[in-house]
Amino acid sequence: MLRSLILAAAGNHTLRTALTSVPGSRGLVRRFVAGDTVDDAVATAAALVADGLAVSLDHLGENVTDADGAEATVRAYLELLHRLHAAELAPRAEVSVKLSATGQSVHEELALENASRICAAAEQAGTTVTLDAEDHTTTDSTLRVLAELRRSWPSTGAVLQSHLRRTEQDCRALAVRGSRVRLCKGAYAEPSEVAFADPREVALSFVRCANVLLAGPGYPMFATHDPRLVDIVTERARWFDREPGSFEYQMLYGMRPAEQRRLVAEGATVRVYLPYGSDWYGYLLRRLAERPANMAFFLRSLVSTR
Ligand code: FDA
Repeated sequence: MLRSLILAAAGNHTLRTALTSVPGSRGLVRRFVAGDTVDDAVATAAALVADGLAVSLDHLGENVTDADGAEATVRAYLELLHRLHAAELAPRAEVSVKLSATGQSVHEELALENASRICAAAEQAGTTVTLDAEDHTTTDSTLRVLAELRRSWPSTGAVLQSHLRRTEQDCRALAVRGSRVRLCKGAYAEPSEVAFADPREVALSFVRCANVLLAGPGYPMFATHDPRLVDIVTERARWFDREPGSFEYQMLYGMRPAEQRRLVAEGATVRVYLPYGSDWYGYLLRRLAERPANMAFFLRSLVSTR
């Protein structure tokens, strides 16, 4: 119930304006977001890489509704990739892209064209792109764009969400050689016709999907902070004789940092999803919806400014 309310607030314009102007919100934002600028992003990525972690950087922004906004997204990624290359952070630092920020709602062709420019720049910089998953109305379109991108850039990564009923099938289709697939639970409010509502069913689906991905010849990326799922993935990877470098764990910046470093110390590849930019509202609300403890931290940071 609380989760649905918070996710509904993610699309509320008035609340967005109010919350982004509250001074205390900056404290929470800083916990989950590298900062507003590309300098902040590169400096934070460098510190994480120095700690043995890999990184996927996300220029915050989504639901762009015109070609100019989409162009601004592309330019931000081109600048970021140039800076990652100059700082010699690639290939430990790749980028995550939301197609809704590259013009998907304007036209799928525009999103494909823009994502292609980002993939080409990533290749030049010596790194890769992963297409984030958004709400279920975009899944078919995103997978079509992915298939096109993979013709020229086969290492382009996909994200599949275990809360969607279709995802086990999508995992089978993408568990192929050279394919990089990030498996997560899914952060968007979805109707029960297309998604499991019960957290237990979502977790069970995650395990079924993990089995499919680990059994195949692709490169699975398990994006979860859920301690039970981390343990299960570790056990399943052993069962499928997966070497440490043949799959990875992924967690969000600011979430379970000690666990991220524990896994690295055990020889695992761990990638931190690192967002940056000023358009942090939707991202932050999804983090609040996932974890009541984040909400408590948020309320405390508001109170502490008074
Ligand atoms: P969840 O939040 O369900 O928590 C399960 C249990 O884990 C909790 O009950 C608690 O016990 C424990 N736990 C969780 N956080 C903890 C903490 N900080 N400390 C201690 N225990 C904790 N979504 C999407 O729709 N599209 C996308 O492209 C992506 N991309 C993405 C990348 C990466 C790297 C990550 C980690 C996640 C995403 N997501 C995403 C978000 C994802 O779908 C999901 O919403 C969140 O990861 C929350 O689900 P979890 O599996 O992490 O555990």
